[in-house]
Amino acid sequence: MKNSVILSLLLGSFISAIQAQPVATYTAQDRWYKHAVIYNLDVKTFQDSDGDGTGDFRGMAERLDYLRALGVDVLWLAPFQPSPLKDDGYDVADYYGIDSTCGTPGDFVFFMRECEKRGIRVMMDVVLNHTSDEHPWFTKARIDTGSMYHQWYAWATRRPENYNKGMAFPGVQQEVWTQDSVTRKWYFHRFYRFQPDLNFSNPFLVEEAERILAYWLKLGISGFRLDAVPFMIEVAQPGNDEPPQLYDLIPRMQRFAQWNRGDAILLGEANVPPADNSKYFGSKGDGLQMMFNFYANQYLFYALATGKTALLKKALTETRPQSEVSQWAYFLRNHDEIDLGRLTDAQRKEVYQAFGPDTSMQLYDRGIRRRLSPMFNNNRQMLDMAYSLLFSLPGTPVIRYGDEIGMGDDLRLQERLAVRTPMQWSDAANAGFTSAAMPFRPVISNDTFGYRKVNVDAQQLQNGSLLQLMKQLIALRKEHPEIGMGNWQLLETNNDNVLAIQYRYNNRTTIAVHNFGRQPVKLSLAAITGNQLQNLLQQQEAIGESKGIWNIGLPAYGYRWFAAVPPSGK
Ligand code: NOJ
Repeated sequence: MKNSVILSLLLGSFISAIQAQPVATYTAQDRWYKHAVIYNLDVKTFQDSDGDGTGDFRGMAERLDYLRALGVDVLWLAPFQPSPLKDDGYDVADYYGIDSTCGTPGDFVFFMRECEKRGIRVMMDVVLNHTSDEHPWFTKARIDTGSMYHQWYAWATRRPENYNKGMAFPGVQQEVWTQDSVTRKWYFHRFYRFQPDLNFSNPFLVEEAERILAYWLKLGISGFRLDAVPFMIEVAQPGNDEPPQLYDLIPRMQRFAQWNRGDAILLGEANVPPADNSKYFGSKGDGLQMMFNFYANQYLFYALATGKTALLKKALTETRPQSEVSQWAYFLRNHDEIDLGRLTDAQRKEVYQAFGPDTSMQLYDRGIRRRLSPMFNNNRQMLDMAYSLLFSLPGTPVIRYGDEIGMGDDLRLQERLAVRTPMQWSDAANAGFTSAAMPFRPVISNDTFGYRKVNVDAQQLQNGSLLQLMKQLIALRKEHPEIGMGNWQLLETNNDNVLAIQYRYNNRTTIAVHNFGRQPVKLSLAAITGNQLQNLLQQQEAIGESKGIWNIGLPAYGYRWFAAVPPSGK
């Protein structure tokens, strides 16, 4: 067959393929991260399959049907690359490998295939701000100061004056410049001393970072949670407390990721003030597609602790994204401490008093190292309200494994390990997490939050369990993509205990109302003319409009999701 004939045949089938597709009205629908529910987990603590006491990819694959039934669209995996595990994997010793405790590269590919079959996307942490001090690059950088790798780190020939300023882990970490015993020079490390910072002003390092992204994208990863972005882009300089930031690196990495995989995204860990958001999102959305809203999160916890929502409303307004591409990730708890560093001392004290009164519950002079259920004293009304809120905030919800069953914490464990205990599947030995007698990290076994009481199996069957509510909320959230994608506005309620948000998208209007207070409230919301409110969560009479007002009653910690619809029969 002639080339031209083949070409026209190919072209013909291509054109008919295009014609067969329904015409997409909204390209925004393609932004999968805007209507997704993300589930954060660590391979090591989820499910062990081989009885060695540590979770692995094969084990995680066995639990994918559970995750799919829960309604999860995207998994965000904590670091699983080879690591000395001094910072639970955030100290990477080989960016291209799989830590042998988590399985083999074959197990990883098997897991990715199982995810793909179920339509579950996988995102992974990529920790490029620093390496482990056991990474071969750092070893080479130390033994040969003339080598390329030496320039991949930041060095000082004398101890910088500011060697003990700007620690990421105050109270635990002593300095950010440490003298290396081989070169006798000081190297910079924003985090622990075994995590030397990489120097991204080096173009060869930037190319290597891109190779790392490309490698995982080609293995099927949909996007990256980029660790410590503000620190990654800073160029550490001895004596300079305000080092230059390489903001251009962010759009470059975003472009690179998308050239490799069209729908790849970067989700940044960047706890920055609102004025800096556009530097990270990019003013036209050409930067990180997503960031965690750490700023609003602090005021969210302040609101939960005090019942007062004014500062949360302000924070939501201050962080409204400038571009349609940009999206916030909202969360209640993650794998770290709740960072309250941007609150005033008095405000932080109020949150401590409510949720972490004992100093053993606090960390790094700024946060709380507890899970949500113990913080709320296991108060179901509060928990239900908080999760309903999470699924109705103007962004993408990220839940942490175990939150869906109200898992507790283990304050005997060091620092943030308190909130990183193994998943509680059943009341079998070691919660069904492992068949080993000694899991690598203890399973919680106390009376209130121990696995005999708090586990997936029990809650699957129990009417009204937190797990059942989570499934319901996730399903509801997915039926209302306008929450993640639409325009939103705060509604005036004249009650500081209440947060009311209205979403509009594609002619649909949804309203979420949450009472942060311990007292029931009666509210008046300005009605959309001619519409009534249909309750989406409870079986209740629709709320009709009365003189341009909807009158709503909410119990203590009450919450409602409504659709604004024309009265039935019309
Ligand atoms: C942020 C991560 O969330 C935290 O767990 C880690 O210790 C630091 N980055 C250092 O990688």
